Amino acid sequence: MADSGAATAWHQRALAEITRWPWLQKVNDRATAVVDPVYDRFRSNPVLELMHGGRWLGHSLHPALSDLPIGFWSASVLLDTAGQDVAPGGRRLDPSSTLSAAGLAAAAATAATGWVDWSVSDGEDRRVGLFHGLLNVAGVSLQGASLAARLSGRRPTGRALGAASLGVTVVAAYIGGHLVQGRAVMVNRVATTTGPTRWVRAVAEEDLPAGGVTGVEVEGRHVLLARRDGEVHAIDDVCSHAGALLHRGETDDCTVTCPLHFSVFDLRDGRIVRGPAHHPQPVLPARVRKGWIEVRGSAPAPRSRRPAN
Ligand code: FES
Repeated sequence: MADSGAATAWHQRALAEITRWPWLQKVNDRATAVVDPVYDRFRSNPVLELMHGGRWLGHSLHPALSDLPIGFWSASVLLDTAGQDVAPGGRRLDPSSTLSAAGLAAAAATAATGWVDWSVSDGEDRRVGLFHGLLNVAGVSLQGASLAARLSGRRPTGRALGAASLGVTVVAAYIGGHLVQGRAVMVNRVATTTGPTRWVRAVAEEDLPAGGVTGVEVEGRHVLLARRDGEVHAIDDVCSHAGALLHRGETDDCTVTCPLHFSVFDLRDGRIVRGPAHHPQPVLPARVRKGWIEVRGSAPAPRSRRPAN
């Protein structure tokens, strides 16, 4: 029998190892105990949602902002390498130092948005995210020391610390990329969900009374059904934020609250009422027919065919 571990890529093994470090688990527990109550207190604040990116931006803000310090610090190292770290006209700030300072300012905004995204992560993602954050703290500290050295006239030390800061930050960025692309953190979990491609019976009509909500699986797709004001509504049951099943959350007349991180969606059209979700829930056509509630998904977009020669 084949060894299933043989197919595991080196980066998966490395990241899995990180999540097993006992010290990281301890730091994670302590950070969670401090951070979660603060996040919970301001959960409904629109500023917090905007820091996620939320319904207004449709994307997470943190990865976009993270390009800024990396870009500024890369340019700073480049100027150092080219011997351009000399202030023109005897000014205090040379171009390399200006870029270093700009990167530090951008890093503050990047860290703040990273903190809110980390607050709505779970399990292994949370531990990897914490390690990513700790590496970034190290990168920022080195960059701060680099700027201090540059400003006090110790340019070789400033150059060395700047290069070290960039190296650590790039490793942190790699781990951040793994979280998004390898583990789908803050990625729309229903982006590729389609089907069923025909009308399919989901539940008997009597099992969804007026005002009721239920979750069903229809040809492998999780669907939330709600009956409101005499109409049947169907939306994807898998939360677009991190994949929790919405029907397990609280509902009221028009909304459902995700049980995991408390995004709120409109039951009738899947619209986001409150983040951290960035993407609305897909809506499925629904109808009542012969005592059954039936749903139909959207068919995948037809692939364009090459014209015949
Ligand atoms: S899974 Fe995070 S808000 Fe739903």
